[in-house]
Amino acid sequence: MGAEARMERSRMNGEGEMGDSHELISKSVSAMLSHQSPHGSFVASPDFGQYQYCWLRDGSFTAYALDVAGQTNAAADYHRWVARALAPLHRAMADAAALTGDPAALTGNPAVWHRLPPARFALDGTAVLDDWPNFQIDGYGAWLWSLREHLRLAGDDRLLAEVRDVVDNTWRYLDAVALDPCFDVWEENGDQVHTSTLACVHAGLTAAAELLGERRAADRAEEVRSFLFGLAAGRGRFPKSHSLADVDASTLWLCAPFGVVAADDPLMSATADAIKAELDLGGGIRRYAADTYYGGGAWPVLTASLGLYWLAAGDGQAARRYLAWIETKFDADGSLGEQFDGEFLHPDKYRQWVLHWGHPARELLWSHAMYVLLAVACGDSVGGPAGHPAS
Ligand code: BGC
Repeated sequence: MGAEARMERSRMNGEGEMGDSHELISKSVSAMLSHQSPHGSFVASPDFGQYQYCWLRDGSFTAYALDVAGQTNAAADYHRWVARALAPLHRAMADAAALTGDPAALTGNPAVWHRLPPARFALDGTAVLDDWPNFQIDGYGAWLWSLREHLRLAGDDRLLAEVRDVVDNTWRYLDAVALDPCFDVWEENGDQVHTSTLACVHAGLTAAAELLGERRAADRAEEVRSFLFGLAAGRGRFPKSHSLADVDASTLWLCAPFGVVAADDPLMSATADAIKAELDLGGGIRRYAADTYYGGGAWPVLTASLGLYWLAAGDGQAARRYLAWIETKFDADGSLGEQFDGEFLHPDKYRQWVLHWGHPARELLWSHAMYVLLAVACGDSVGGPAGHPAS
C-alpha cells in the first residue's frame, strides 16, 4: 500500500471526525489557555517529554493567536513573563554580541551554548543550563513583533512602560547579531544565516523601531531586508539559508505573518509554489524535503502558514483547503499534534525517533495557534471557549 493510501486509511480510522471550525477554534483557544503556566509561559507540548519548556518562538506565536482570539489578558501575562525571563540576560546578550563575526564561538562550541541567550526556558522563566543549540535569534525577533501586535490589539499602554528596558536590550542584541550565523527555527544548521530567522529579526527590529522610536532599529531592519532580497536574487525565490538553496516552508513567514515581502512579489509567489510542489504530503506541508525527524511528516504550523500565504495572495479557496487538512488532524479530544504521516514516509526514521524520545507530540500549542490564525483569517468566528470568555 502506498503512502497516500495508508494516509487515507489512517484518516478513515477516525482522524478527522471533527470539522466544525467554530468548535475547533474554541478547542484550540482552550488548549492554549489551559496549558499556560501560572507564570505566564506556554509549555510547547504538555505530553511530549522533550518539550516541557517554553520556546520564545512557539510562545510568541501562541500569544499572538490568543490576542487575535480576544484573549488579551493571557497574552499580556505571557509578555510580562518574557520580560521577567529576559531581564537577567542583559549580560548574556552583550557576551553574544561581543562574539559576532566569530561563528565558531557562537554555534560551533557546545561549551559556550549555556552562556548564550537561550531559545527555550523553564516555565518559571529560568534559563536552562544545558547543551541545547541555544543560539537561535528568531524567537527574540518574534517576541518583539508579538509584543507590538499585543499592544496594538489590546491597547495596553501600561505594559510598554513596564517592559521598555527589556525591549531596548533585546533590539540592541538583535542589531548586533542580526546577520551572524545561528541555529535555525528547526534548531539545526548553526553555521548558516537563515531566511526565516531573518524574517523574524526584521519583524522584531521594525516593532522596536515603532515602539521606541529608534531610527537605528528601522535602518537595521532595512539592511536585513536588502540582505534577504540579495539571497533571492539570481535564484528566483527565497532559499532556506545564505548557502542552502533548498526549499523550506518556514520562509512563508516572510509574507505572513511578518509582511516583509508582499504576497504578489514574484520571488514570494515562486517560493510558495516551490513549497507546494516539494513539501506537500497528502495535503499538509512538511518542513523541508530532507527532513527525517519523526519521518519528516506534515506540520499544522506550516500548513497554516501556506494557507495564510494564499489568503494574502487572494485565493481563499486554497486557504480553506489547508484549513480543512488541519481540521482532519484534531483527535477526538480536540488535541492537535506537531506532525502527521511521517511514519508512512520514512518508517525507519520514525521508529528510530520513537525509540529515542517516545511518540511525537500529540498536543502542540504552536499548532493550535497557527490553526486559530488561519481560521480567523478565513473569516471563521472565534466565539468564547467554554469557561474562557474573551478578556
Ligand atoms: C522544532 C522547533 C520548536 C520546538 C518546540 C522543535 O522540534 O524544531 O521549531 O520550537 O520543537 O515546539
